[in-house]
Amino acid sequence: MTAATIFLQRTNFIDACYIVAFALFIYGMSGLTGPRTAVRGNMIAAVGMAIAVVATLLTPHVLSGSAPWLIALGLVIGTAVGVPAARNVRMTAMPQMVALFNGVGGGAVAIIAWIEYRHHFAAGGGVWIQKSQIPTLFAAIVGSISFWGSNIAFGKLQEILPGRPIKLPGQTVINGVLFVICVASAIVLAAGTHSQGLFILGILLAAAILGNMVVLPIGGADMPVVISLLNAFTGLSAAATGIALNNTAMIVAGMIVGASGTILTNLMAKAMNRSVPAIVAGGFGGAIAAPAGGPGVEDRGPVRSTSPQDVAIQLSYARQVVIAPGYGMAVAQAQHAVRELEKALENKGVTVKFAIHPVAGRMPGHMNVLLAEADVPYDLLREMDEINPEFGRTDVTLVIGANDVTNPAAKNEPGSPIYGMPILEVDQSGSVIVLKRSMASGFAGIDNPLFYDPKTAMLFGDAKQSVSDITSEVQAL
Ligand code: TAP
Repeated sequence: MTAATIFLQRTNFIDACYIVAFALFIYGMSGLTGPRTAVRGNMIAAVGMAIAVVATLLTPHVLSGSAPWLIALGLVIGTAVGVPAARNVRMTAMPQMVALFNGVGGGAVAIIAWIEYRHHFAAGGGVWIQKSQIPTLFAAIVGSISFWGSNIAFGKLQEILPGRPIKLPGQTVINGVLFVICVASAIVLAAGTHSQGLFILGILLAAAILGNMVVLPIGGADMPVVISLLNAFTGLSAAATGIALNNTAMIVAGMIVGASGTILTNLMAKAMNRSVPAIVAGGFGGAIAAPAGGPGVEDRGPVRSTSPQDVAIQLSYARQVVIAPGYGMAVAQAQHAVRELEKALENKGVTVKFAIHPVAGRMPGHMNVLLAEADVPYDLLREMDEINPEFGRTDVTLVIGANDVTNPAAKNEPGSPIYGMPILEVDQSGSVIVLKRSMASGFAGIDNPLFYDPKTAMLFGDAKQSVSDITSEVQAL
């Protein structure tokens, strides 16, 4: 062994690499707080991860036997699948890609737990009692749930599976029994038994069924919250595996993922005014949506529609215009057209601001990402709490493909499923123009009284086309 190899494999050197990697993770994450710095932050954290991987490979005995070839094969397959998938994914398909990649992480953790078990017995080990056993059992259960649950989430979002909640009779009892099987098998294994094979298989199988059963009854549209929760699970199971394998990088990275996934899940649930247990228990989202225009809608009065010409006149003579984008802007890919409209209005001396609801769209930061992609200046973006007091002094609010996040029923109708959800109070502005294709409901599947408000006018059509038409009219004025 050369002096260089001895140096590179020293514990002190490897630990120093890990410390550099953790510093880069944390520094990179601080970049994720804003769209301007997010890409750089992501790259910095990726460099940290590369350093952690190299440090792990340097650990003595890791690259023994056929391991280097298997690792190289894994790297080639992972790169060949991951890079094109990440490059080609459409922005609207991002949640399902996150689900798929998260599931792979959970599956990897469950497989490591299985291999740890096999190693022990292949080495002629007796009853499987060692300090790494409890975290390994935890990783087997949680990793397996996360893998299967994420696959179901992917299937629902990709519309391979029906988005509607799929419930079995006695579902809660079945889930409870499966959970008890997992925990009881883990306890039996931890206490020491000679039927280890049976119990470890029992854990992996029961956890696999549980992962499916927990996610199937949840509506497709609630999947982003579920994915975030499963992401937190994967992080925790990876941290547990890190304890079992005595790998500091896995512990730290797993805990970061576990903590950030938990915080994100809570933030999303709070912004939707729903509890995480209520989402996991199934609720709105998916096919339970009642179409807008259903019973009771006729009581709300007539709907006024407008034309791009009229909208352009209204906007051009306004002092302040607020643009409230939502999921429809993402579907229409209207962000670049919206940027052109914003520039055209500013050329006419109109002040333009963007109102960003925390759960507008279908993933956290969805609107920020799209608007940043279209080079909308970040200082024009206002968070919900910041913009709400401004609607009272806004002449026109342009709602572009947003529905639920502007629905006044959340404030005024105690019986509404979204009652209590914080909204963009666009109905407080002088007038409101809503760009959407029809009177169809949004994610929550409920009617929106905003559309029947006498000061609201609807411009029906695809958001991208409508925005381009308005911009041409503004420029022609
Ligand atoms: P939604 O309430 O889902 O409404 C989007 C509207 O866009 C629809 O009513 C649709 O009406 C319209 N639309 C679709 N395609 C369009 C197109 N090509 N051109 C013009 N309009 C189009 O969206 P939102 O207001 O952004 O609210 C988001 C919802 O998702 C909330 O209920 C939130 O709780 C939920 N959610 C969000 C997240 C995250 S993290 N963001 C996660 C889970 C759930 P038409 O079909 O008539 O055009």
